[in-house]
Amino acid sequence: MSQAELLATIKAIAVPGKGILAADESDKTIAKRFKSINLESTEESRRAYREMLFTTPEFGQYVSGVILYEETLYQKHKDGTPFPELLAKQGAIPGIKVDKGLVDLPNCPGEQITQGLDGLTDRLKKYKEQGARFAKWREVYHIGDVIPSSLAIKANAEMLAFYAAACQEQGIVPIVEPEVLIDGSHTLARCFAVTEAVLHAVFKALYKHKILLEGMILKPSMVISGNQCAKQADVQEVAEQTLTVLRRYVPAAVPTINFLSGGQSSEVATAHLNAMNKDKNNPWNLSFSYGRALQDHALKAWGGKPENVAVAQHALHKRLKLNGLASVGKYDSSME
Ligand code: 13P
Repeated sequence: MSQAELLATIKAIAVPGKGILAADESDKTIAKRFKSINLESTEESRRAYREMLFTTPEFGQYVSGVILYEETLYQKHKDGTPFPELLAKQGAIPGIKVDKGLVDLPNCPGEQITQGLDGLTDRLKKYKEQGARFAKWREVYHIGDVIPSSLAIKANAEMLAFYAAACQEQGIVPIVEPEVLIDGSHTLARCFAVTEAVLHAVFKALYKHKILLEGMILKPSMVISGNQCAKQADVQEVAEQTLTVLRRYVPAAVPTINFLSGGQSSEVATAHLNAMNKDKNNPWNLSFSYGRALQDHALKAWGGKPENVAVAQHALHKRLKLNGLASVGKYDSSME
């Protein structure tokens, strides 16, 4: 492992005012997103969509890293420039989703685990040759009356740690993503308790697997009310509870925390990030690694039509700019 290589990548990503664009939707997920605009998902429509995103003016002013799906890592701009090269020109580092998605976790009804460790080291070597400097692996935790179970919490944490170790060995910065899902009628307090158990287990596993904390990125969910909960916590509560749990369980050695949006609306995700950055006592850089909260408006504006590229890019630019401001606590809802 080259520590210097990991630290150089972190330094380029954890820049105040910038964050990560998650554009690593799997074929199944992007097909679902395209269905919402009545567009068929083909290799070419996926390529055209990602080209629209990555050629947005001033992209690199707000985006320091982009998470790609494997197919996209090997695709090109229509002028022939490979996407990783295009992103580098824009000032953003290419990253790659390396997990292979979710499967049911045996003996744990309603719970899941992520697969993809087989052959991971070989794949990491190939992705690095192609320009990827960081990677992403996501584990999910469903909240129910009796889940997540301690077995699922432990098993998922182990997977994240195995993956992170494989990445660091290859000089690739791992994004460690434990996502406590928004789905359900649970309260904010219940989400807090689950997030607490999850982060505690994740950092214990990362310690056991000798992960260099200075050379990783944490991508957590925020502490929020379930999407079916009658009482929705306000922005301030979410910010306070999220910071409380992070301060208790995430060592200050972790350089940057880049949140997922996880089903929050674009505007709410920005407001939450901003509220957390109003507090100047955070030991880590706090930014975004949003997928939907950055792309939703742009996807709709694009609608799969070449003539809409400029207006779609305008919509993405707005979200990038506002989240860039939120990452330094300088956003205000009047800017919407
Ligand atoms: P969302 O922001 O849409 O949750 O996507 C982030 C991500 O990368 C999920 O793995």
